[in-house]
Amino acid sequence: MTSARPHITSAVGGALAKTSAEAPIGVFDSGVGGLSVLRHIRAQLPNEHLMYFADSGHAPYGDKTEQFVVERALAVTAFLLEHGAKALVVACNTATVAAIKAVRARYPDLPVVGVEPGLKPAVAATRNGKVGVLATARTLKGEKFLQLREQISAASKTEFLLQPAVGLVDLIELGDLEAPAIGAMLERYIAPLLDQGADTLVLGCTHYPFVKAGIERVLRDHARAEVALIDTGDAVARQLVRLLEAAGLLRAPDGAAAEPTLRGYTTADIGALAPAFDKLLGLHPPVEKVKV
Ligand code: DGL
Repeated sequence: MTSARPHITSAVGGALAKTSAEAPIGVFDSGVGGLSVLRHIRAQLPNEHLMYFADSGHAPYGDKTEQFVVERALAVTAFLLEHGAKALVVACNTATVAAIKAVRARYPDLPVVGVEPGLKPAVAATRNGKVGVLATARTLKGEKFLQLREQISAASKTEFLLQPAVGLVDLIELGDLEAPAIGAMLERYIAPLLDQGADTLVLGCTHYPFVKAGIERVLRDHARAEVALIDTGDAVARQLVRLLEAAGLLRAPDGAAAEPTLRGYTTADIGALAPAFDKLLGLHPPVEKVKV
């Protein structure tokens, strides 16, 4: 046993399953975007076993109904729990906004961390009170997001300029991050935010950190290189550390213990996820195609 309180019980599909600090953390996204969060999780929790689930067979979530995203989130969570997950990271803004409530309601004992557009850090970063928010259409329409925006803008008097980046996730999923189509799309979505005076841009989708270079190029082209970019991957990993600590589920470093493992699962061809691991993180974990 590697932690003070190594066992909790959690409901899995109605049954009770034992979890321990040795169990893996399940991380999921509609596709490869959550790898931008996994990067921070690996940096902050280097001893943990990890499973990454890319629901690429059903991506993008951003143009689907809320009900569809809730169903996918519950199905993927059930899969990760069947594969022993001790905690869940919903590494997708769209799924967090649409479905984290349903996931928490079904699995009340499971430590769950989600990711939402970083409006609070944006308020801390902005100097002129104008913040552009790039996210999927579903995220920006979600009640959870709209409430958060309402609250934060009332408290801080910040103006949030919402820009759905329709089609951007599809292009990023194709894997060519330098594609001219991505550059053109970033220009189309970001230029109006800059014209309206935004001095801070929230990357409200976990896919977008992977096109940060392209976003910075747009800012330079508009002579606005000083615009701050907000990505919450690091904060999500810190929250995960806190939850695991509180549940006594941190896997402690132990010379005798097995090396931490990483496994990938996808609902599309492994031909998309395996190269993404390589290209985005320089990793080559086993990747399996699953039907969920
Ligand atoms: N990475 C997801 C997010 O953070 C993308 C959603 C989608 O598939 O449209 O919102």
